[in-house]
Order: sequence, then structure tokens, then C-alpha cells
Amino acid sequence: MTVLTLKNVSKHFGGIRALTDVSMTVPEGRIIGVIGPNGAGKTTLFNLITGAYRASAGEVVLAGKDITQWPSHRIMRSGVARTFQNIRLFASMTVWEHLLVAQPREGGLWRSVLPIGWADAAAKARAEDALVFFGLEQYRDVIARTLPYGIQRKVEMARALTAQPKLMLLDEPVAGMNAEEANDLRALFHRLNERGLSILLIEHDMPFVMTLCHHLYVLNFGSLIAEGTPAAVRNDPVVLDAYLGTEAA
Ligand SMILES: Nc1ncnc2c1ncn2[C@@H]1O[C@H](COP(=O)(O)OP(=O)(O)O)[C@@H](O)[C@H]1O
Ligand SMILES: [Mg+2]
Repeated sequence: MTVLTLKNVSKHFGGIRALTDVSMTVPEGRIIGVIGPNGAGKTTLFNLITGAYRASAGEVVLAGKDITQWPSHRIMRSGVARTFQNIRLFASMTVWEHLLVAQPREGGLWRSVLPIGWADAAAKARAEDALVFFGLEQYRDVIARTLPYGIQRKVEMARALTAQPKLMLLDEPVAGMNAEEANDLRALFHRLNERGLSILLIEHDMPFVMTLCHHLYVLNFGSLIAEGTPAAVRNDPVVLDAYLGTEAA
């Protein structure tokens, strides 16, 4: 079963070709990595998948359904959750409130205007599960934005998890984390994956990507230049060239 397929997707911003003819697949239960130099189009890819941007060409297919023209909220409700390269947390909410606010509210309009504290038992159970899963219990009542960076990233991931996604999109989840925090996170991602969650992840940290992902796609200037197992990609001269070329520039 395939969770996500991109078919010849392109995205242009005026004259800027952010993505050109990109095709990729996320099979169910896999951890797939997207790597590539800055500006390669990685975040744009996530914005297309989540409906934040519209594709200029091509198709986005989620669990067999063409979602290319779907609005964001419908895509999110269909089992896609994401985190952002630049952390997006609310200024004055506690960790616990963040875990309740991302959840769809059952029961129509009158429920959606109730304060967060009125969340139903199922929503609270999902929030509790995510809190414990990411080891955030001790920060439950702390204003999320006052926490260290690595913890804020975990709050974002926990919030994404409360939506009970089938597919999690993670945009540079270990950016700014030290080696110990990254190791800790790798173990958590493996556990999430064992629970049946499929993961598509953008990451710059090569050792992290190489030891976590089943399969990698490499973007450069908006085009796929390689794909394969981490071992194959690591030794691909085209990939080495793209990275070295960027660093020299
Ligand atoms: N909303 C936008 N408007 C114009 N250009 C954009 C927009 N979003 C991304 N781009 C451009 O698309 C290219 C790819 O950006 P991005 O997807 O953020 O790359 P990456 O995440 O790989 O670093 C860059 O040249 C960037 O400036
Ligand atoms: Mg990016």
C-alpha cells in the first residue's frame, strides 16, 4: 500500500522554478528522507503535499486519492500532519494547551467556540499519549515558547501526533539539537514507525538521515538527482558533487 505519491510535480514562483518534475513514493510504514542543499525545494515539497501551495503541474496522491486541489484543512483531516522548519508555537500557550488545540473538534460549531479546557475525554487521552511519548510530562504546564529549543521541537512533534496522522512530515526535526537529543529522537521515530506511522522527513544531518531512513530522495535546484538506499546515495558521485559544489559556491 502506498501512502503518498507525487507524480511529475512542478512548482514555479514567477520565474523561480522551485520544483521541476518531481516524482516520489512513500510506501506504508516506511521512513523516507529528502535531502539536498539549501534552496533545493525541500520545504516547497511539503507545502505542496499539505495544500499550503498549489502545484503548477503534476499530481499529489494520498492513499489513492488525488488531493492536488484539496485545501489544507481537508488534507490534514485525511491523515497528514507536519512540523515546520521554523518552529511555530503560540506565544502564550502551555505545552498541554498546544496538544489540545491541534485536534479536530467533534460535535459541530458550538464545540469549536468552547475554551481549550473543555476538550473531550478522547482528545485529552490523545494529548496525554503524545505528552508521555515525547517525554514532556514535566513541561505540561509551562509556556511552550519559554522552553529550550530542542524541547520546543518535541512539543511541535507531539502536537502533530495528536492529530493521529497516517503520514508525518518532519521539516528538519533535529536542526539545533545536540547529538544526544538527536539520538533520543531517532529512537522515538523508530517507535512511531513501529506503531504504523509513515514518515517523510527533510534533514541536513547526514548521519541522522543515513541511520534512520529506509530510502532517500536527493533534490538539487528543484530536481531529483538521485534516489536509493542511504548506502547507495552516500556513494553516488552526482550527490557528492551537488553538496561539494554548493559548499564551494
Ligand atoms: N512563497 C515563495 N515565493 C517565492 N519563492 C519561493 C517561495 N517559497 C520558496 N521559494 C523559493 O523556492 C526555492 C526553494 O525553497 P525551499 O523549498 O524553501 O528550499 P529548501 O527547503 O530546500 O531549502 C528557493 O529559491 C526559494 O526562494
Ligand atoms: Mg527548507
